[in-house]
Amino acid sequence: MRLMPFQSALSTTKSSCASFRFAGKPSLQGLLEQNAKLWDGNASVWNAAEESQKDLYRQYFLAPTIQKFVGSVANKNVLDMGCGEGIFCRQFAKNAKSVTGIDISEKMLAIANKKPTNGIQYLKRSITDLSNLKNEQFDTVFSSMTFMSSPGLPQSISEAYRLLKPGGEFMFIIKHPFNLWKQHQKTNGKQISYFNDNPFVYEADLTKYAKKVDEHVPTVKAKSIHYPRTISTYLNTLREAGFILEEMVEPEIPKATLKILGSQKHDWEMPQIMMVRAIKPKTSTIQ
Ligand SMILES: C[S@@+](CC[C@H](N)C(=O)[O-])C[C@H]1O[C@@H](n2cnc3c(N)ncnc32)[C@H](O)[C@@H]1O
Repeated sequence: MRLMPFQSALSTTKSSCASFRFAGKPSLQGLLEQNAKLWDGNASVWNAAEESQKDLYRQYFLAPTIQKFVGSVANKNVLDMGCGEGIFCRQFAKNAKSVTGIDISEKMLAIANKKPTNGIQYLKRSITDLSNLKNEQFDTVFSSMTFMSSPGLPQSISEAYRLLKPGGEFMFIIKHPFNLWKQHQKTNGKQISYFNDNPFVYEADLTKYAKKVDEHVPTVKAKSIHYPRTISTYLNTLREAGFILEEMVEPEIPKATLKILGSQKHDWEMPQIMMVRAIKPKTSTIQ
């Protein structure tokens, strides 16, 4: 990972990001602290977009597509890595045996805890180190839209493996690496290689589609750091941790949803997200 352009991107970005500076090569700890600060900064707008249902992309595409992919977690012990304000934890809690939500942002978790918790346990931790959770206690480990904006992918995937029972299911959803590549180029205003793994600051316009439908909707943006990784990096990291790949889905946005979003087909010429399902082998034992 080359870090120089990333540091300069951070130091030139207006608002709270300007304070993120590193004297040398940033440590994993330093990068995680940045994530916590950025997401604390996003928490209230993120939640407002969610509650006012102004994030139409999430409401009409992301959430239902992910829910369909996940299926039932009835009677399972579920871990949500990067749970945010708990949108999926609350879904799971309807029929799961137990739900644990992990997030690095205190403010995201404060919002989650103000909503109906139905027995959900929220913990402020980094998904890269969940060492205080005991081995092989979950049937399902889930993560939505978090890995592509967190450093330490191998550590996070190894933690998912350690925490799953043998035979347990790991599902993660990320922004598709091609989509992230496109955003990387847009952010830098020039052609950038797919293999360029410099992290970059990305501001997502959560109200992009709501504004197409109603021009009076005020703009709401959330800022995060994106870590470009290739598809093979994700899949090989899974394999190296011991997982067996069961399914990978690159969903195409349905025409009816395009209509709701007031969007053109050419906006969606590549997959927006990538959903992966992997299994921890039944024979696996953790010492
Ligand atoms: C895009 S939000 C997604 C939230 C939720 N999963 C959803 O789909 O609505 C990403 C979340 O990941 C959290 N996050 C980022 N890096 C993390 C890390 N290393 N450990 C724990 N949480 C992290 C952020 O605080 C934020 O709440």
